[in-house]
Amino acid sequence: MNEPRKRVRVPSLKEKKLRGEKITVLTAYDCTMAGLMDRAGIDVLLVGDSLGMVVLGHEDTLSVTLDTMVEHTSAVARGARQALVVSDMPFLSYQVDLGEAVRNAGRLIQGGAAAVKIEGGSSIIIDVARRLVAIGIPVMGHLGLTPQSVHQLGGFRPQAQTSESADQLLREAKSLEEAGVFSIVLESIPSELAKRVTAELAIPTIGIGAGPHCDGQVLVSYDTFGLFQGSVPPFVKQYAQLGDQILEATRTYIEDVRTGRFPTVEEDQASDRKKPR
Ligand code: KIV
Repeated sequence: MNEPRKRVRVPSLKEKKLRGEKITVLTAYDCTMAGLMDRAGIDVLLVGDSLGMVVLGHEDTLSVTLDTMVEHTSAVARGARQALVVSDMPFLSYQVDLGEAVRNAGRLIQGGAAAVKIEGGSSIIIDVARRLVAIGIPVMGHLGLTPQSVHQLGGFRPQAQTSESADQLLREAKSLEEAGVFSIVLESIPSELAKRVTAELAIPTIGIGAGPHCDGQVLVSYDTFGLFQGSVPPFVKQYAQLGDQILEATRTYIEDVRTGRFPTVEEDQASDRKKPR
């Protein structure tokens, strides 16, 4: 019989890196989907601020508020029995000053996250990471394509394409590690750079559009399950087309109701006998 899975905790990720086991991460935004991915055995559920785009329909992640993140973090935490829940700190919730960063990270932890993720590698962000870690809040870093800087980057485009910018990214990764972060997401950077960063850090790297050499991989679940109806980045592998299934099911439902195929008298009587949810 299979051993019951143990809850994934922050130190488990470094242990996985040491054992050479790949770390699996998907984004989650609600209790039901989190529960399904958790049952399937995912290591980490990231409550990404990508929810602003794939769930709320915004152009980018910048308008996501802390209240929204806390609400979705609580929902995901209720669905996750084993997976580690990491929550994105949204734009402007950690950049203004250290006191605000601590208070806001604390709200995500009180909402059910075990750790928070922050974007960037400037000295301001390193200070935030150091302070949060010092008071016991685990921090995941995020370098490369950092969506909260979309305007400065000139769009959602690959990063660290020159040897100078690659060296800078490596320096920032080392500074984040030195500040105490337990893992770093590397987004849309060359595969060879991700390999170098992964080899030079003791903490695990989690790649998205950064090739196969990272210690783990993350994808936006709505992209990978074929739910998001906008454009999907080219590096995404789609494991399902749930959007098509929902379209088809909705069309069949509409047809059934319009033609009187649903509900039938028998179904109506059966529903009288069912307990309300
Ligand atoms: O918000 C998000 O979903 C993320 C992942 C793309 C890493 O930050």
